[in-house]
Amino acid sequence: MINLFQPQVGDAELAAVAEVFADKWLGHGPRTKDFEAAFAKHLGVEPEHVIFINSGTAGLFLAIEALGLGEGDEVVLPSMSFLAAANAVVASGAAPAFCDVDPRTMNPTWEHVAAALTPRTRAVVLLHYGGCPGDVVEIAERCRERGIALIEDSACSVDSRVDGRSVGTFGDLAMWSFDAAKVLVTGDGGMLYVRDAERALRARRLAYHGLVQATGLAHAKVSHRWWELEVPEVGRRVIGNDLTAAIGLVQLGRLPEFTGRRREIVALYDRELSGAEGLRTPPPLPAGHESTHYFYWVQMDELIRDQVASDLLAADIYTTFRYAPLHKVPTYRSDAQLAGTERASGETLCLPIHPGLSDDDVLTVATELRRAVTKRSRELAPAAAH
Ligand SMILES: Cc1ncc(COP(=O)(O)O)c(C=O)c1O
Repeated sequence: MINLFQPQVGDAELAAVAEVFADKWLGHGPRTKDFEAAFAKHLGVEPEHVIFINSGTAGLFLAIEALGLGEGDEVVLPSMSFLAAANAVVASGAAPAFCDVDPRTMNPTWEHVAAALTPRTRAVVLLHYGGCPGDVVEIAERCRERGIALIEDSACSVDSRVDGRSVGTFGDLAMWSFDAAKVLVTGDGGMLYVRDAERALRARRLAYHGLVQATGLAHAKVSHRWWELEVPEVGRRVIGNDLTAAIGLVQLGRLPEFTGRRREIVALYDRELSGAEGLRTPPPLPAGHESTHYFYWVQMDELIRDQVASDLLAADIYTTFRYAPLHKVPTYRSDAQLAGTERASGETLCLPIHPGLSDDDVLTVATELRRAVTKRSRELAPAAAH
């Protein structure tokens, strides 16, 4: 099976884990701090603003909580987002307001966001589809002008930039995911960036029970009785640990290698698929934009998309569509009409992309895809003539 995603972990990660075992400090500790510092450097921000947590989802929940959102507030997000973003909004008592996307870039423009704003809008959660930065610069600027907070869902964008500046640092808060399917993996894990220093402190507290200072000998600052508690507000427990941080540190060092190979795969797909009958490849990145290339997607007539996915599966090639539109999920009670999203969700297929793919694998995917599209389009043609 040619997989859609596949983590790249090996001897270096194993050695890092072995060191943690030898030190016998598995929990939140020095390696967590080192990983936060290294990730902050990667982003070009100060380490105090970066918090290692146990998932990207936890980052979304913390971000919404740190902004103090709740009943009566609205949060705009693309309908084509991962469901955790909507869940985080709903869990706070606020309401999600789904916006449309450009069906070619799969990202919203400012106009798409603006169409979903109301006087109750307090925040925007902006996903960078497949690692493409999209119109983050303009969206950040316009949100700032209006006093609307911007959370960047950078789960797909661990190595994405606009004019050299890291995606995730344009808004007020951002989170990354290091789950097993992502580009940088720690098994499970995530990072939260909080621009405002006070808010960052609070988010750090909320990530660990709401405690002002962790208990324990190393933190005996609250009182000479280091077991005493100071809890100004309740929090949860979503911090990362030294075991996963050790893996993350190695992975971060390998990130240029991962993104570099992804870029080669994208170039191969582009070469093999652009201009192919019945297929559209992703639009080129605007000047100054760098993508992590978490997804490579193609688009075709929606009448054949599902059959093409089945044909590829029969040829041992796993494809999918991300992200199924949330405005169609009854739980979120949306009556939004989003033409771009509906079109994209009918026409798009995400192809296998990860550094473990050989050139031959990529060529096999491209060949099977072209074959399936041709076959299914031909079957469609007589039907369309009736
Ligand atoms: C865009 C996006 N946001 C958030 C998440 C949540 O991250 P995690 O799986 O680390 O909780 C994911 C995970 O798939 C995602 O793809």
